[in-house]
Amino acid sequence: MDNNVLRNIPGLIKWATAYLEQNQVIKPRLNAEQLLSHCTGRSRVDLYAYPEWPVTKEISEAFERVVMRRAGHEPLQYITGIKWFRYLELAVDPRVLIPRPETEMLVEKAIETIAKMPGHPLVADIGTGSGCIALSIAKECPAAVVHATDRHKAALEVAKANAERSGLSEIILFHAGDLLDAVPRDLLGKFQAIVSNPPYVSEPEFLSLPSEVREHEPRHSLVSGPSGTEIQLRLMEEAPGWLDEGGWLLIEGGEHQVVELAERAITLGYAHAEVIQDLNAVPRILKMQAA
Ligand SMILES: C[S@@+](CC[C@H](N)C(=O)[O-])C[C@H]1O[C@@H](n2cnc3c(N)ncnc32)[C@H](O)[C@@H]1O
Repeated sequence: MDNNVLRNIPGLIKWATAYLEQNQVIKPRLNAEQLLSHCTGRSRVDLYAYPEWPVTKEISEAFERVVMRRAGHEPLQYITGIKWFRYLELAVDPRVLIPRPETEMLVEKAIETIAKMPGHPLVADIGTGSGCIALSIAKECPAAVVHATDRHKAALEVAKANAERSGLSEIILFHAGDLLDAVPRDLLGKFQAIVSNPPYVSEPEFLSLPSEVREHEPRHSLVSGPSGTEIQLRLMEEAPGWLDEGGWLLIEGGEHQVVELAERAITLGYAHAEVIQDLNAVPRILKMQAA
């Protein structure tokens, strides 16, 4: 970095934007602003409103280090350690998938369904990762009793810490284990809703994912198996035993999976199966009602 830009906010943004662009980072200016905001503790708006703020040597060196990491295509959210999801500021690190915008829609549909239920609906989030689904449901549907599971204990630690920092740890129960096997068996047949964003990438598809995803996010949070639908199908088979009569299973899936899985749902004995499209008109969510 040129010494002239060391102590100057506009200069640092300009330098980092050009450097990130050279290294094929998408939206280089936004990334530069977010990284500087992270290093200075000041909002992006303030970076422009108060360009004369002095930048210490420590800050400019810290900024240079994070820009280098980002230029190497490490995900922005692992560098800042933060991902906003609906109304929650979640801590994220390489133990968990970075929550995606598609999953906000899954949560929106789950909340629409759960909010209409009387009493204290029992809800499970299977494969909770950062906890984004379970925590959002617990926050936005305070009457619900939420169970969150993950096969990977390291991911569950992240979800528990996020529940703690969001003031939701008292109202979510966490369990480690494979899909619904993780849940106490006395709850068989009692759930009003099961929600999941399971791994749904096939082994061949994984090889074509951007390096930013493939080399940094946990493979086990993405890959389901040779076809991509293995975990979704297992969950669709297991869920009816855990759902109360008329209970709902909502799962996220890939563009080429959801319609086929909806047909499968009917053969598995679900009463209804509805395909919901995302904002790009891509079939993304499958909402099924147990008979
Ligand atoms: C696609 S990530 C979703 C994480 C989070 N729910 C989200 O939407 O961002 C899938 C999660 O399922 C977990 N997982 C993978 N296989 C599982 C299994 N057989 N049983 C339970 N959890 C599993 C992974 O550890 C990962 O946290």
